[in-house]
Amino acid sequence: MSTTSAQPASKRRILTTSALPYANGSIHLGHLLEHIQTDIWTRFQRMRGHECYSVCADDAHGTPVMLKAQELGITPEQMVAQTRDEHHQDLIDFHVDYDNYYVTHSEENKELCELVYNRLNDAGYISKRTISQLYDPEKEMFLPDRFIKGDCPSCGAENQNGDNCDVCSATYSPTEVKNPRSVVSGATPILKDSEHYFFDLPKFEEMLKGWIRSGAIQTEMANKLEEWFEQGLQQWDISRDAPYFGFEIPNAPGKYFYVWVDAPVGYMASFKNFCNNNGLDDAPFWAKDTDTELYHFIGKDIMYFHCLFWPAMLEGAGFRKPTGVNIHGFVTVNGAKMSKSTGTFIKARTYLEHLNPEYLRYYFASKLNDSVTDIDLNFEDFVLKVNSDLVGKVVNIASRCAGFITKRFDGKLSDNIENPELLAEFQTASESIASHIEARHYHKAIRDIMGLADKANQYIDAQAPWVTVKDENKQALTHDVCSMGIHLFRILVVYLTPVMPKLSEQAQAFLNDEFTWASAQETKLGHPINKFKALLQRVEMDKVNAIIEDSKDNLGTAKAEKPKNEKPKNEKKQSKEAKVMKDDGLSPLERDPIAEEISFEDFAKIDLRVARIAKAEHVEKADKLLRLELDLGGDTKQVFAGIKSAYQPEDLEGKLTVMVANLAPRKMRFGMSEGMVLAAGPGGSDLFILEPHDGAQPGMKVK
Ligand code: 2FM
Ligand code: ZN
Repeated sequence: MSTTSAQPASKRRILTTSALPYANGSIHLGHLLEHIQTDIWTRFQRMRGHECYSVCADDAHGTPVMLKAQELGITPEQMVAQTRDEHHQDLIDFHVDYDNYYVTHSEENKELCELVYNRLNDAGYISKRTISQLYDPEKEMFLPDRFIKGDCPSCGAENQNGDNCDVCSATYSPTEVKNPRSVVSGATPILKDSEHYFFDLPKFEEMLKGWIRSGAIQTEMANKLEEWFEQGLQQWDISRDAPYFGFEIPNAPGKYFYVWVDAPVGYMASFKNFCNNNGLDDAPFWAKDTDTELYHFIGKDIMYFHCLFWPAMLEGAGFRKPTGVNIHGFVTVNGAKMSKSTGTFIKARTYLEHLNPEYLRYYFASKLNDSVTDIDLNFEDFVLKVNSDLVGKVVNIASRCAGFITKRFDGKLSDNIENPELLAEFQTASESIASHIEARHYHKAIRDIMGLADKANQYIDAQAPWVTVKDENKQALTHDVCSMGIHLFRILVVYLTPVMPKLSEQAQAFLNDEFTWASAQETKLGHPINKFKALLQRVEMDKVNAIIEDSKDNLGTAKAEKPKNEKPKNEKKQSKEAKVMKDDGLSPLERDPIAEEISFEDFAKIDLRVARIAKAEHVEKADKLLRLELDLGGDTKQVFAGIKSAYQPEDLEGKLTVMVANLAPRKMRFGMSEGMVLAAGPGGSDLFILEPHDGAQPGMKVK
């Protein structure tokens, strides 16, 4: 029997993508969050009857891939081919169902990059100019910032990064680094001129401002992007010099497209490859004024590429812009950044060796929403949720009812609906659950599905078929109640199908059924079912512990690998890590300046004290630092503070300020620094130390 269908009237044509994983490291939890988020949405659209394709690929190009292949003694092509296969298998094993998982080092991508570039060039959006960059004379290559190390120009700390200092958090240009050396060869870099190609991003400012407010991205992200407009958009350097693993720019021998040019074009290329192999036309998905929809799922660390550069490239080349860029937060594990030392930097394969991938899909779904807040995988919560929701609630419904149907009622559901109101409640939930999934509020969908599962269990508890089955006069009732349980179970699994496709497949086999979203509206009176087999095992904590144990020393990550979606330590740190991940030469503007949230517990660890500046003096050979002696009402601490641009030492002496008193001492070139003074302001002369009200006493704790 079939009742009304919830199938939406018009069929949509949709293409979804996930960010393309770099081809020089393994898929891990950070990637999985995104691929699972995309996959749930895509499967849901397909179940709703829409034409929905999903593509991804390995991001093959760039200096880190090139250098890692050299390290391994293989060609970049070989390395990329191997990694692509490994990545694809990991994703398949997590039931992530791409129509095509390709690679950016492909013929289609080369052609499309050339097409996009030629169109941009013809339209006057490309210019050339000579810039001076650090060059490794031994290795004969220009050095991306991350391949330069040296002494911090600000505090003098040794062995700092090419563009920022871990010790004093200063950011600077790699040419300012003192005693620079190439990480690749150890040689001292020299400055060398080279002609670069620039994309005229500022020309797209008005278009971009409109697009980011068109509903294409979350408001919080649109607000974040306003900062870029305030700073003024810059010409974007889209070329890199040989040697570089990438595509040569047309009519520019020895110049290659920067990896962030060909990576997003890789979305188009992967889809083109799929369409060509399947007799489909990809053109409507990229045409201006199309009614097809295009959604990119990405992490917040790469939103600038997807929300500024990419839409501008598309617009400039005469293509459509994305319907939506769906941005998610980072993954944390047990409340902290994923970490190799604690075994919480977990690779897809390590997880798969111990646990069912659908547990993770379910857990992520139960937490995912449409915001960029980080998603915490808390292992105790994970075990609890899987066992109580999936095993204890959903599967339990079928296991309580199926046996009686098979043994007592000839394996057939009854011809009656014992509780039509309850059935109707399950069926009418369909549209609201669908709208939650559509809006990427998966956590609300799961909450509602589990609410229904509770009701189904309460119904079975109240009816107690294991009691009525013993009463000869209640056989029909028992049959109806158990059938009712199976109907309810079936609807729940229909709703869970995008999240747990494998469980659903097993349930469909058990029920002799094939699910679409509309299946929830059907009732299977008199329908034969098969013998029930256990669908899921409980998770045991020792499996989780084994994953953590195995993750402690199996890293195998190349220098080049930046853990994707790994939570950054702070804003400056994030800048650095974002750059590491995105290969080379990113201007600070290309990096995501989102500061990490810290927990209250972390914040509470900071011991802020009122301090009196007993002494302040210049530090010889330090451009930015003053040496302060801070009186904490008994204890005295020495701090080197980067406030020279704003204060004369004599103006500081005697002032009260606030310091971080429990910062571990750091050795700087000029001596030990035993804390940090709090100051705010844009910098230069506009830098203000915190000055507590009169009456504050040195040593007082700041609450
Ligand atoms: O951040 C990254 O991991 C990149 N490899 C993502 C590229 S997404 C797209 F633009 F291709
Ligand atoms: Zn420094």
